[in-house]
Amino acid sequence: MTHSESASSSTPGETSAPYGSGPAASSSAPAGRVRLHHLQAAKAEGRHFAMLTAYEQYTAEIFDEAGIEVLLIGDSASNNVFGNETSLPVTVDELLPLCRAVARAAKRSLVLADLPFGSYEASIEQAVTTGVRFLKEGLAHAVKMEGGAYYADTVRAMVQAGIPVMGHIGFTPQSEHALGGYRVQGRGDDAARLVEDALALQEAGAFAVLMEMVPAATAAQVDAALTIPTVGIGAGNVTTGQVLVWQDAMGLRGGRMARFVKQYARIRQDLLEGARTFGEEVRDGSFPGPEHSF
Ligand code: KIV
Repeated sequence: MTHSESASSSTPGETSAPYGSGPAASSSAPAGRVRLHHLQAAKAEGRHFAMLTAYEQYTAEIFDEAGIEVLLIGDSASNNVFGNETSLPVTVDELLPLCRAVARAAKRSLVLADLPFGSYEASIEQAVTTGVRFLKEGLAHAVKMEGGAYYADTVRAMVQAGIPVMGHIGFTPQSEHALGGYRVQGRGDDAARLVEDALALQEAGAFAVLMEMVPAATAAQVDAALTIPTVGIGAGNVTTGQVLVWQDAMGLRGGRMARFVKQYARIRQDLLEGARTFGEEVRDGSFPGPEHSF
């Protein structure tokens, strides 16, 4: 049985409430752990789910409490944690501790780990080995990997090994150089290629397919062709799920934002003001006051 098949069935012995009956009014996440079959049910019932990146304990705790259904330890940690310019340099050994921290903190969210560049391309064996490491050492529940039909056999082997896989098509940041930079994919006739890629991933057993920077019309074609959930980032609002990098969505990262980013908080400004005030109070001697001293 593939994960897409098992995802649509109920889970015997599962104690969590059915999808949609969770306590958080603002979220449709279940009261217990979000499972693949909850995401599949969202697709089947025409509902949406939310996904944010997380790379450490506190944001994972907060997003979990907020009812975000999926937390992604993205290879975007390369840019957003380790200070690299692209996602390419980050390694499995760098991502694993971040993944463990998120997995320990997340009580309900499904924990999804990105396979970084260089950790799955060489062979099916390499991909299975890396996937196993993320579930075993990283405590992830599933992995995401970039690439389309070319990786169908790899996905099939991973799924058979018990590793749930989300595909990632459209703009794939690990292929930034091959793709000639950050460019929208799947315009016009190229939409058919994305549909073929997505169908091949579904047939191989992927439990979902993420689309990055593709026209909404193309995303709609892909979503309509699939029975498994889709997730979008810069792919319009037709997909089952939506994902954003948390530092973009919550306003920690400064600078220019991509068109598809919406900011829901202004964390950078709060931190800046807090740090400035702390510095001033230390320098003028008003901190620590008597109430903070023994
Ligand atoms: O690593 C990442 O942040 C991603 C995005 C698509 C969310 O893969």
